[in-house]
Amino acid sequence: MSCARYGCRAGIVPCIQRCNRAAERKVRGQYILFEGGYVMKIIMLGAPGAGKGTQAKMIAAKYDIPHISTGDIFRANIKEGTELGRKAKEYMDQGALVPDELVVDLIMDRFAKDDCKNGYVLDGFPRTIPQAEALDAALVKNGEKVDYAINVDVPDENIVNRMSGRRACVGCGATYHIVYNAPKVEGVCDTCGEKLILRDDDKPETVLNRLKVYHDQTQPLIDYYEKAGVVRNVDGTQDMNDVFNAIVDVLEQ
Ligand code: AP5
Ligand code: MG
Repeated sequence: MSCARYGCRAGIVPCIQRCNRAAERKVRGQYILFEGGYVMKIIMLGAPGAGKGTQAKMIAAKYDIPHISTGDIFRANIKEGTELGRKAKEYMDQGALVPDELVVDLIMDRFAKDDCKNGYVLDGFPRTIPQAEALDAALVKNGEKVDYAINVDVPDENIVNRMSGRRACVGCGATYHIVYNAPKVEGVCDTCGEKLILRDDDKPETVLNRLKVYHDQTQPLIDYYEKAGVVRNVDGTQDMNDVFNAIVDVLEQ
């Protein structure tokens, strides 16, 4: 068997030393061969502003899997003025959830894309029990399952502060924080040079509603995935690089 990335046939240890992601990796105490690379299906759980997007981008870059954010997909649709964007905006501006039927169809289309064959990191989906059940049903059809549900744990009192300091790029969607992750030039995206703005749903009154919706509808997913034995809790109040190191430890233990 060979490493899908470099064709290395030297075995487990040399392959890991060479590309650190393809072929065989130790997962839950066992070496497992992943044809075509590193197959990991990861869900990010946590309150709005817990750092799901920040960490999901770092995970995606390290393991070479796509970062799929339903919030980003909706915001792109709003920017392009699509019908989906128009419908989603009505809910998002109030801090409410977009109806399950709109989200599930959208995400199933996304999974069908070729870049998902080695896994993905899901950020903002599932967000309700029916969404989680729809995801499980789709995975079971292919003999697959969620590997990890990473719960980025941040208490409510830290959240409003994080959200009011967040700035999002109107061009590429990159996110910053005016104190904890400031751009090099104030108000300008380091990556694409476009303007940085405060998201409409990051205003304090909307954030409070999003937190309520989170506790009512999304937090029960922690129990749902506990039952499947895939939840890993990470302290999200640490510095972002420390949060990331804790997640990597979980994924590579
Ligand atoms: P979405 O975009 O998913 O928003 P969210 O879950 O509310 O989460 P956020 O993106 O606000 O926060 P995050 O956890 O990604 O934090 P971030 O890394 O940016 O969804 C928006 C809306 O779309 C929903 O309200 C809903 O209406 C709709 N929607 C989306 N998916 C849906 C679904 N499946 N079903 C139904 N409706 C759906 O970090 C936050 C800030 O903190 C940043 O400024 C960051 O720089 C900073 N930060 C991050 N980590 C740290 C750290 N460790 N220390 C200090 N600062 C940090
Ligand atoms: Mg996000």
